[in-house]
Amino acid sequence: RVYRLAVIPGDGIGKEVVPEGLRVLEAAARRYGFRIETDQFDFASYDYYASHGRMMPEDWKDRIGGHDAVFFGAVGWPDKIPDHVSLWGSLVAMRREFDQYANVRPVRLMPGVASPLAGRKHGDIDYVIVRENTEGEYSSVGGRMFAGTDREFVVQETVMTRIGVDRIMRYAFELARKQGRRRVTSATKSNGISISMPYWDERFREMARNYPDIETDSFHIDILCAHLVQRPDHFDVIVASNLFGDILSDLGPACTGTIGIAPAGNIDPERRYPSLFEPVHGSAPDIAGQGIANPIGQIWAASMMLEHLGESEAATAVEAAIERVLSEPSLRTCDLGGRADTATCGKAVADALG
Ligand code: NAI
Ligand code: MG
Repeated sequence: RVYRLAVIPGDGIGKEVVPEGLRVLEAAARRYGFRIETDQFDFASYDYYASHGRMMPEDWKDRIGGHDAVFFGAVGWPDKIPDHVSLWGSLVAMRREFDQYANVRPVRLMPGVASPLAGRKHGDIDYVIVRENTEGEYSSVGGRMFAGTDREFVVQETVMTRIGVDRIMRYAFELARKQGRRRVTSATKSNGISISMPYWDERFREMARNYPDIETDSFHIDILCAHLVQRPDHFDVIVASNLFGDILSDLGPACTGTIGIAPAGNIDPERRYPSLFEPVHGSAPDIAGQGIANPIGQIWAASMMLEHLGESEAATAVEAAIERVLSEPSLRTCDLGGRADTATCGKAVADALG
């Protein structure tokens, strides 16, 4: 078995954590008897933008569309280029053009890692956020009028389509079944957002009828944030719109000690296009270049990618290796109170695969 990966490190700590992800993939490949072939791309970065005046080449779809998956670091350098330009010109474009409509973000408190939530231990926090990834609040429908005048006027619409809402809900219920999880929770705000969110609720209720074996509930996003802090053990699978899912998936991992360990799969479940695997965190300009970033988010993303490629055994082994390394305080990076550098932590996971 040979897998061809498009590797895009991007900006900042993306360039530091992607090599650790690849190191672990190589170790898993040796151990489990498959091969990884990589093509590295320098686009989706500020450097590329500085020399080409755009974030990605015009033919980016041809260049990476034939790979089995995209292994992505992080993009964004807000001092030099506005975030909406860098993100929409790269990551958001890939998610949309490759119709990666399910953004899957597992949240788990690892053994031995202290949660900032009092009294929480391994096993108490273990859920998956399923974020809609192609429409919703992150739409390009809107505009600005009378710019720079007192009458300045800005509108941005939320877009919800029947296809778009139904497919993300179906994905969440199917994931719950596949992973043996009991409940799907919907993130809503239909008390305030009075047109799109009641529609979201309606489609959620409708989809739930097809899954009588799965419990359901629904919370407004504000109280849902409180519940994630106060009773995280309640949650199994959370299905959320693009914006709500984005917010919840920084809050959730923060409750497990750091956002530095959280992974994301941007998945096209129909497999017409490559799916994209990345950490949840961004390019972290504040710590970039120091070699201290936590590589676990990138490595866990590699494990999700292996699962997607059909290498379940290797994927499970990588997760187990992550757990073993994190339970050893001397192998943790500084965001988890340790002193290990990025490479030491990454190498430890690779070594733990045996
Ligand atoms: P960020 O996730 O880059 O950083 C937030 C905080 O968490 C920082 O203090 C950072 O040092 C820390 N942190 C993040 N990852 C870490 C890791 N692996 N190990 C240790 N500490 C870590 O978010 P921020 O600062 O809001 O955004 C920075 C840039 O990244 C912006 O341009 C933003 O648009 C972009 N971004 C890109 C994403 C992507 O490529 N998927 C996702 C989120 C932000
Ligand atoms: Mg985010």
